[in-house]
Amino acid sequence: MKIIRVKDQIEGGKVGAQVFADTLANGAQVFGLATGSSPISIYDTITASDMDFSDKISVNLDEYKGIAGTHEQSYRYFMNEHFFSKKPFKESFVPDGLNPDGEAEAARYDAILEKNPRDLQILGLGRNGHIGFNEPGTSFESTTHEVDLTESTIEANARFFTNKEEVPKQAYSMGIKSIMEAKQILVVAYGANKADAVKAMIDGPVSEDVPASVLQKHANVIVILDEAAASKL
Ligand code: F6R
Repeated sequence: MKIIRVKDQIEGGKVGAQVFADTLANGAQVFGLATGSSPISIYDTITASDMDFSDKISVNLDEYKGIAGTHEQSYRYFMNEHFFSKKPFKESFVPDGLNPDGEAEAARYDAILEKNPRDLQILGLGRNGHIGFNEPGTSFESTTHEVDLTESTIEANARFFTNKEEVPKQAYSMGIKSIMEAKQILVVAYGANKADAVKAMIDGPVSEDVPASVLQKHANVIVILDEAAASKL
């Protein structure tokens, strides 16, 4: 893993955007994208640049099940807001949260991933080491699947919805195997509350108890960290 320490998220945004630019210059066609706070400064830097994705494909990591892409809390909505409305791709895939059939949606998305091998996959890191919606204990062999959100995740998300009943209880997520198939992976983590997960990802044993530790087995990973996130290395 190549570790890049940055001063703050603004610098991280520039470094991460440069990874996208270099990958583009090398002929990349397919970009795996993530939501969450960590990639935002990268997306802001990219959308303010002259990079052109109009003949490229994007595939997102995950989506809540049971809400439409027009819902403000959906990941499709997030991507439209932060990226696609400003810098469109030729085609942008996000799991379909309105497909009630989990097995069918997983198979549909896996076929999309197979047809569109990712040149670069960006990842944020959960405090417990999750990547995508792959929580501790998820098989390293997992492909796209339906996930039951934990009670703590549902409670943490409740603030974004009018009431707890509205919070999605499930999600669709690329699996760990799907994530590892990307040619290059860019992980971004900021803040002291990520320091333990960063340490376990980089120096801990490779174990399904820490999903991100699988990245030690990938040949081409760049990690962008601020000082607080890197403080336990
Ligand atoms: C987002 C995703 C999640 C986040 C992770 C970190 O699509 O799959 O795994 O990357 O929860 O979130 P932030 O960046 O908000 O700290």
